[in-house]
Amino acid sequence: MQNIPFYQETFVSYLEKFVSKREPESLYDPIHYILQLGGKRLRPVLTLMTAEIFNGDYEKALDAALSIEVFHNFSLVHDDIMDDAPLRRGKETVHEKWSINTGILSGDAMLILAYQFFENYEPKTFQALAKLFSKTALEVCEGQQYDIDFETRDDVTIAEYLRMIEYKTAVLVGAAMQMGAIVAEATEEDQKTIYQFGKNLGIAFQLQDDYLDAFGDPETFGKQVGGDIIENKKTYLYLKALEFSSEEDQQQLQHLFSINPTDTSDKIEAVKEFFISSGSAEATKQAIKKYTNQAFSFLDTLKVSEESKNELKQFGEQLMNRNV
Ligand code: IPE
Ligand code: IPE
Ligand code: MG
Ligand code: MG
Ligand code: MG
Repeated sequence: MQNIPFYQETFVSYLEKFVSKREPESLYDPIHYILQLGGKRLRPVLTLMTAEIFNGDYEKALDAALSIEVFHNFSLVHDDIMDDAPLRRGKETVHEKWSINTGILSGDAMLILAYQFFENYEPKTFQALAKLFSKTALEVCEGQQYDIDFETRDDVTIAEYLRMIEYKTAVLVGAAMQMGAIVAEATEEDQKTIYQFGKNLGIAFQLQDDYLDAFGDPETFGKQVGGDIIENKKTYLYLKALEFSSEEDQQQLQHLFSINPTDTSDKIEAVKEFFISSGSAEATKQAIKKYTNQAFSFLDTLKVSEESKNELKQFGEQLMNRNV
């Protein structure tokens, strides 16, 4: 097994080979722009790592990894339209740089490209990958729709929030790992276990994403800090703040989440103050730990080397302590 930077670099070189001039430029330039904007490459790295953990060859997993990353970037292009986000990875979002229509169609093309990479696999592997992918992609749409529906609802529960992030984010992390396992021809049982590991890590990952959206450093975060507050997103931070607050504070917080001021800075500051004073910021950190540890517990039953398990644990710890 190689180290994480190796998988990252190998993946990025593979991705660059795929990015070549193609017409019409107005369709493909935005695709190449978003794919080369960087990002952590978390999901493809997990695909390659998982293939090797199950004694497969990471090179065989490169097309599955590419599929996952192209799908992820497609979801970001459409997500940024839906969230009215100006910044992605420190640069203009696709729809800001071009237009909403460009974001829609370039995104659609990316979704199709993501499927095309599976054609490089033999029928049995192709079928397993495509089946998992379709199920996962549909769940991501469901999660994204819940996320949008929740913006205008004031009775969202923690359980609903957790299901929403499981669908919009966590299942893709699980699938990224299961795809590595499929390519390596791991047993069904191991495939299921590694999927659960990835899914729980993905829940912790989205909780952390929500935390950073409010408390990240604008210099390094790469996205608009406070974007979720502006959009009235019903995050764990928000729901726990309500739960922990007095009736008077609840009303104030709910009021802040019912207005859409032109100057958003006061709203963001006031909401963040509630997140801290209510204890919800701290509770979110605890939840991130809880789901990361829940992910680790799935490693116990996995039939792979201790060294591999430690690599996966290290990866999980790093994610928990990230600031981007
Ligand atoms: C952002 O994903 C969207 C979420 C699911 C939180 P990442 O944080 O993995 O984005 P990049 O690819 O590293 O930019
Ligand atoms: C993203 O959730 C989930 C998907 C893109 C499917 P967010 O809306 O929180 O992601 P960011 O914060 O914009 O990256
Ligand atoms: Mg977003
Ligand atoms: Mg979103
Ligand atoms: Mg976010």
